[in-house]
Amino acid sequence: MSVAETSTSPPRGLPRLLQGLDSRSGPMDRARHEQLHGPLPRCSPEELFDMIERSGLRGRGGADFPTATKLRAVAARRRVATVVVNGSETEPASLKDHLLLARLPQLVLDGALLAAFAVGAAEVIVKIGENAEEPAAALEPVIAERTTGYMPISLAVSPDGYVTGEESAVIHFLDGHQPKPRFVPPRPFERGYRNRPTLVQNPETLAQIALVARHGEHWYRELGTAADPGSALVTISGAVAHPGVYELAFGTPMTDLIAAAGGGTEPLQALLVGGYFGTWMPATSAMGLRLARQDLASVGCALGAGVIIALGESACGLHESARIVDYMAGQSAQQCGPCMHGLAAIASAFGALAGGSADAGERERLLRWCAEVRGRGACHHPDGVVRFVESALEVFGPELQSHGLRPCPGRPAGLPLGPQIGWRSR
Ligand SMILES: Cc1cc2nc3c(=O)[nH]c(=O)nc-3n(C[C@H](O)[C@H](O)[C@H](O)COP(=O)(O)O)c2cc1C
Ligand code: SF4
Repeated sequence: MSVAETSTSPPRGLPRLLQGLDSRSGPMDRARHEQLHGPLPRCSPEELFDMIERSGLRGRGGADFPTATKLRAVAARRRVATVVVNGSETEPASLKDHLLLARLPQLVLDGALLAAFAVGAAEVIVKIGENAEEPAAALEPVIAERTTGYMPISLAVSPDGYVTGEESAVIHFLDGHQPKPRFVPPRPFERGYRNRPTLVQNPETLAQIALVARHGEHWYRELGTAADPGSALVTISGAVAHPGVYELAFGTPMTDLIAAAGGGTEPLQALLVGGYFGTWMPATSAMGLRLARQDLASVGCALGAGVIIALGESACGLHESARIVDYMAGQSAQQCGPCMHGLAAIASAFGALAGGSADAGERERLLRWCAEVRGRGACHHPDGVVRFVESALEVFGPELQSHGLRPCPGRPAGLPLGPQIGWRSR
């Protein structure tokens, strides 16, 4: 058997994950969920791993790691394991996990339970941030409904903060400590929650597992490209008419992606691809790309957790970037010297450049500090910030000179700093 038997026919085209979602109703209940998707499919661990591997599914939490490899690594430990649904969604401009957990919690738990049975887990923990009130309210009854004596499911709520979603910080928190990243190895799949092998997976990845297990890898590959199969949830915000979460096939041209969000509210000057760990691109070059790993990698970008921010011409890219760098420096867990001191210095230099108060050597100092902190933290926080800063200097650098001469006429773009609550229409 390669595809679990199901009484429902698979969705053709889009939406897949967001099938049946109605922006006016609450969380999808189990009856409606099973009417749409059928009951939880039954397949052996090897069948599931093979299907996931052949589907080409990769993690949607930002690291883009092959999902089958991680599932197999946890199962190969041959010890009682734990599955953690990483619903932290600490990227301020991302809302996809919020949407999935608040509206389609049954689909996410389907994936978590399938993964748990396959890797030999004895429990499932759903971890969210303390501002995720809507997901918490949706999850509590669904967890109570789907928990069983042999597969308990629980909800864990941690303080918010950018680095609290990093997987070692999640494990550390679940073990009763501060949600701060730890030096790895051991990685969670080796020794995670309570020293057990632990599968940490993003909610979207789990929701995709739930669909692949039902409809198989051939169905999954009907959308997307050979190298990037399937669909992805993308949160589009900034200067677009309808910011929100959209499900798009990999390979979709960026122009179509912006059009899906209602188009720009003004001419666009740049796109931020991949969120606050991501990369700025001039709008003209970004529009020639597709939502595909190869296209994005060819210009040094990655989709990260599926975040795209459009910056209109009326905004100041330097000021917006300075706000973000300042916020990200403040998110350091303050336990690694280069991250704690380096990011603060980088934020201060960037702020001086954007504000027109920098001296002649500031840009060079900033670039040197970037080189010095790269790769020097317990987690990838400094690396993400450095990538962002370097791309901001590349794209908005030509404006630096005029910033030193006159007040900046840019209008605030209102890019979010900190967790968002509620989700906007999609
Ligand atoms: C600073 C930092 C913050 C992160 N925040 C999140 C998060 O909020 N949610 C998430 O799923 N992954 C986050 N990640 C990635 C996780 O460490 C991990 O790779 C992911 O949860 C694995 O799930 P996936 O394989 O399904 O993507 C973060 C990573 C870093 C370095
Ligand atoms: S690199 Fe920064 S955020 Fe990551 S663990 Fe070290 S201090 Fe914390």
